[in-house]
Amino acid sequence: MSRFGHSSALWRLLYTYGLPYRGHLAVGLITGILMGGTVFGILRSSVVFFMPLDRVPGLVGKPAATPAAPLATAPPAAAVHTLATPPAPAESRDAKPVDGKLQRLLDWAERLGLGHIESDQRMSARLVFLSVAILLLFIGLRGVATVVNQYCLRWLGARIVVDVRQALLEVLHRQSLSFFGRQDVGHLISRCTYDTARIEGGIASSIADLSAAPFAILGALFFALQYAQANRLNGPVLFFALVAPVLIGPLLIMGRWVKRYSRRALQRVAILVSRFAENLTCIRVVKAYNTEEQEQARFRKESEDYFAMVVKAIVVEVLMGPALELVSVLVVCLFVIVCYVQDVPVSRVFPMALAGFFIYKPVKQLAKVTSTIQRTAAAAGRVMELLDTDTSLPLPDHPVVIPEFRDRIIFDHVDFHYDAGGTQVLHDICLTVPRGSVIAFVGETGSGKTTIVNLLARFYDPTAGRVLVDGHDLRDLDVKSLRRLIGFVTQETLLFNDSIAHNIAYGTPGATTASVEDAARKANAHEFIVAEAKGYDRTVGDKGMLLSGGQRQRIAIARAILKNPPILILDEATSALDTATELLVQEAINRVMADRTVFAIAHRLSTVRHANLICVLDKGRIVERGTHDELYAQGGRYRRLCDLQFR
Ligand SMILES: Nc1ncnc2c1ncn2[C@@H]1O[C@H](COP(=O)(O)OP(=O)(O)OP(=O)(O)O)[C@@H](O)[C@H]1O
Ligand SMILES: [Mg+2]
Repeated sequence: MSRFGHSSALWRLLYTYGLPYRGHLAVGLITGILMGGTVFGILRSSVVFFMPLDRVPGLVGKPAATPAAPLATAPPAAAVHTLATPPAPAESRDAKPVDGKLQRLLDWAERLGLGHIESDQRMSARLVFLSVAILLLFIGLRGVATVVNQYCLRWLGARIVVDVRQALLEVLHRQSLSFFGRQDVGHLISRCTYDTARIEGGIASSIADLSAAPFAILGALFFALQYAQANRLNGPVLFFALVAPVLIGPLLIMGRWVKRYSRRALQRVAILVSRFAENLTCIRVVKAYNTEEQEQARFRKESEDYFAMVVKAIVVEVLMGPALELVSVLVVCLFVIVCYVQDVPVSRVFPMALAGFFIYKPVKQLAKVTSTIQRTAAAAGRVMELLDTDTSLPLPDHPVVIPEFRDRIIFDHVDFHYDAGGTQVLHDICLTVPRGSVIAFVGETGSGKTTIVNLLARFYDPTAGRVLVDGHDLRDLDVKSLRRLIGFVTQETLLFNDSIAHNIAYGTPGATTASVEDAARKANAHEFIVAEAKGYDRTVGDKGMLLSGGQRQRIAIARAILKNPPILILDEATSALDTATELLVQEAINRVMADRTVFAIAHRLSTVRHANLICVLDKGRIVERGTHDELYAQGGRYRRLCDLQFR
């Protein structure tokens, strides 16, 4: 991904997953603008409080018309000489009659002992009250806007991440099996958990600040500009305009560093997660081979790598705050000097300083947000990369749905290799399997038996040739409808960490307790299940680790029996069973094989001897085919295998 790709990934992620919640975004932005607007309002209505400080000759008593007058819309300087100072008679004569309500308010204030207010001062008192009321109104408005703004945008952040996680699982489900062969599971888990958590934190904390801070800055700046213009403070303003880039420039550079280090830290976290997962999965091997220290040392080294990268990011991040502060203080000092040189009275600069105060916090927020965004962008880049991955097998434009299997399965000159440029695993496989027949594959390990049935379930597409079900190329079929027809007992028995009943019923929605039990009986699993106190409710542990290999295998067979598919694939389905149980399970399999098309793979030839057709595979080629008796009579490879086993 390019240097800028990660930031664009964040915006793309926000756009794609935030679009459905644009209502929340809109409310968040509007309240953000409102917050900025209230800053302007608060500043303007507070100008009045600084007026009594104004002792500059030529200002007092020369309202509106004076060139140095404050904001055009602000109250005339003299009129706001509050309760303490008597106003110039000129203004009190101009004052409009005080209205009834205000009159009552003033009387009330007097009764409370707040002091006597001369009637000729009432005009200025009126303005003060009005200003206070407006100020309170703006502050209240700002409070409400802040609450709504924070709620909406944090909600949005959390919501987006929920959807992103869901999308990640959906994307992973769409990937082909070759994708999972290439990917490290730990890296995937890390992206789906750690990186998304990073995004959630990032969006929740930064988007709220991001929506409000710029508007607050704009509001304050707008006020400052207006005030400056009205008060002939253009010199200092020009100075501000010149130094503002000095403030922002270093922030941008430092933000880029944060992103770079964060991205590298995330890559290292992924390594840690996969090492962790690996150690847990292979715990028996680790213990059996006494490699605990070795594993710990490796983990420590990788953790240190991660730590080093995190520290780099931390250094840049903690430097950002003080750096900003330093620059701000320098700017303020220079500003004061500029004012001094230009002979600007302090009282007139005061509202500007207040504006500066209102700008400072959001600018600081923006500095924090910059680093958060960069960290989030690093995570978003990695997540989007995964979301953009598409290794799914090509879908037909008009998928054919086959509700049932009627006639035959044909392998038509099928070639296959797993990796482009890798060794060819299957060579010119030609097979016709009529409905209701049992076909067996035997052969050395690695000869391609599992690969053939993988192609039948369309876990992969052949690199040449076709696989046809009832005359339809698998590539034209609706994959779901194809897999509905197939029951697969895989070579390594995979169970979910759930109850036995759930594991058997997996993939058969609406299975009843009775039907689950019936399937378990057929798979000769019922007895060992009910021998335990919890019976069918017993949890099987991670990957079924609490069960023995043979027990797991029988649960998997029960699962396939319950699904009751017309095509059954049994890949070494009885390999983990003792001879007595194998006979029982074989008998069960024979029972369910009736009126089913079965692909059976077995190293133990006794289990496949009754097959209608036995194919002997050697290095991906079918070298012999026929029934047991035919092949035995031929005296070839099959005969040799038999003789070895039944010696
Ligand atoms: N996902 C994969 N990616 C790359 N190569 C693979 C993959 N799975 C299997 N192979 C290779 O394909 C060849 C055939 O493997 P396959 O699993 O079909 O053998 P098999 O006959 O089922 O062996 P076994 O009896 O040991 O189960 C092997 O050489 C194996 O190394
Ligand atoms: Mg195999």
